[in-house]
Amino acid sequence: MSYKETYARAKADPEGFWLDAAKAIDWDRFPTKALTDTGGPLYHWFEDGMVNTCWNAVDRHCEAGRGSQVAIIHDSPLTGTTQKITFDELRNRVAQLAGALRAKGIEKGDRVIIYMPMVPQAIEAMLACARLGAIHSVVFGGFAANELAVRIDDCQPKAIIAASCGIEPGRVVHYKPLLDGALELSKHQPDFCVIFQREQEVARLEEGRDVSWYGFQYGVEPADCVPVEGGHPAYILYTSGTTGQPKGVVRPTGGHLVALNWTMKNIYNVDPGDVFWAASDVGWVVGHSYIAYGPLIHGNTSVVFEGKPVGTPDPGTFWRVIAEHKVRSFFTAPTAIRAVKREDPKGEFVKQYDISCLRALYLAGERADPDTIEWAQRILDVPVYDHWWQTETGWTIAGNPAGLEALPVKIGSPTVPMPGYDVQILDEAGHQMKAGELGAIAIKLPLPPGTLPTLWNAEDRYKKAYLSHFPGYYETGDAGMIDEDGYLYIMARTDDVINVAGHRLSTGGMEEVLASHPDVAECAVIGVSDDLKGQLPVGFVILTKGVNRPHDEITAECVKLVRDRIGPVAAFKLAVVVDRLPKTRSGKILRATMVKIADNQEFKVPATIDDPAILDEVRDALKSIGYGV
Ligand code: COA
Ligand code: AMP
Repeated sequence: MSYKETYARAKADPEGFWLDAAKAIDWDRFPTKALTDTGGPLYHWFEDGMVNTCWNAVDRHCEAGRGSQVAIIHDSPLTGTTQKITFDELRNRVAQLAGALRAKGIEKGDRVIIYMPMVPQAIEAMLACARLGAIHSVVFGGFAANELAVRIDDCQPKAIIAASCGIEPGRVVHYKPLLDGALELSKHQPDFCVIFQREQEVARLEEGRDVSWYGFQYGVEPADCVPVEGGHPAYILYTSGTTGQPKGVVRPTGGHLVALNWTMKNIYNVDPGDVFWAASDVGWVVGHSYIAYGPLIHGNTSVVFEGKPVGTPDPGTFWRVIAEHKVRSFFTAPTAIRAVKREDPKGEFVKQYDISCLRALYLAGERADPDTIEWAQRILDVPVYDHWWQTETGWTIAGNPAGLEALPVKIGSPTVPMPGYDVQILDEAGHQMKAGELGAIAIKLPLPPGTLPTLWNAEDRYKKAYLSHFPGYYETGDAGMIDEDGYLYIMARTDDVINVAGHRLSTGGMEEVLASHPDVAECAVIGVSDDLKGQLPVGFVILTKGVNRPHDEITAECVKLVRDRIGPVAAFKLAVVVDRLPKTRSGKILRATMVKIADNQEFKVPATIDDPAILDEVRDALKSIGYGV
């Protein structure tokens, strides 16, 4: 069936389309219906089905004779090791770990935080939770203790599973002290913590609270899979909103299984047994959907890569991994490709490897600039597919359905909406806009299976943040347009979320941290364009009256404060002191205008501006740190 026919079928008969797709999943009880309409705006999929994620990602492949196929390849240039784990081995490891968790009281519905680097044990921990019907929440290792504490207090985990350390080029990330620090800050305390000791750093265990990964599994009965309802939360993943309080995106079990399985062939064009690689991190949605769950559910081998695009040891690492493990489809962020391109502009390193196994490169997580796409196409000699999605949706909203029908690529567009997504461009009043006109990108409800049904413990926030602006629609927070051929273009965020190296960050959250500095009276954080990371945060601070310490001392403290509170991943390294901030007469800071000045773009002085002279002061401040000149 062509893309057009498939899309039309999903629109005309969502029940039939998604129940058909659901047949590719092993259910303990097949759902009698696909969609439950609660009278809007909330919808649920496969509610009366009973199913287990771990069974579908692991056990069923063993039962079907794939047990000796490699499920996970851990390739770690940071430790100089490679390890392969078959589906049979994975089942044994996960069943044992789940048994140990169950012996310590973990049951269906309990939350478990996972704070681990890119080691196979991170995926095993996720799968062990899924096996028991426990709800995991993975926290990215680049966040500081405070961010971990916020998540602990929000989802109230019964257990935390962590590694002793992570490894970044040139430094060990002390996960265990970060965890201990978080538990000092959080009100909620878990019953116990499981610590996976890595040989690069062995952590001190807290008597009575911490158990060691292997020790606590000794002598326990392995656990079987516990079937859960289709709507049961598979996991919670926190993502940045406009404030410092992250949003806990809930992923429903049934829809997650059905949708991810559908994408593996139709979008990523792999068949069971093929090797698939998403070079991201388990702490992000890409890691959840396409390092852990999607490939395993579909019977693919998944590469778990602990390294960087460059420097581990060189810009040929990606190509080495592709050649060595026979990767067929490769997924990464444009930033990673830009990093490789910067160090190896002529693509000399690719020539050292036979990457004829590779069929396509998929890019997502941030805007893919034409230069990067063209360069990758040229040096890899495979199609490069941009695709657009969000933590909230868990899978592609718009992409090129290469396994169904490879559509012509239009550089600058992530191509077309996937089945189930009725994507529309709306004006401020919610009216549909014409082809080629720029507006807010919204998706007509219901969203397809696998997308978020709500936010953890925050249904009102869910409705307010996503469903209230355009009644009957989900507001994506992105602006863009659709052309005459139905191709979508993503232009910018409509909120204060920025995207740094494919990582979604809240400028509001950084402002909250800066405002807590005793010498800062007022502040603004904006995202300025960066050739490598797409955007970088820049902070403007107004000092409290009477403070006359050297400015660079204060800005250095601001930088340290953001790193300590949010984490290195914020990449907040630039702050300047200003006397005033440009505002509208009603007092709203004109952040968008400040961004235009920093990026050296033309702009109209807003009619509502209180004092246009302040824009010159902003220009001077930016000039002092090398921007906007
Ligand atoms: N644990 C602890 N710290 C981490 C971390 C982790 N898992 N991941 C990143 N960090 C740290 C980095 O070490 C860096 O710290 P520093 O300020 O001390 O140098 C900081 O967070 C910023 O990281 P990042 O923005 O990733 O930049 P980088 O300089 O380390 O690397 C690139 C630059 C381009 C190589 C890198 O950004 C990259 O590979 N990006 C890929 C993007 C990606 O996969 N995104 C996922 C979304 S799909
Ligand atoms: P995250 O939830 O971290 O995956 O971030 C989602 C946001 O990243 C989207 O709302 C977009 O703003 C941006 N984004 C993701 N993929 C793309 C893409 N292919 N093109 C442009 N922006 C993207």
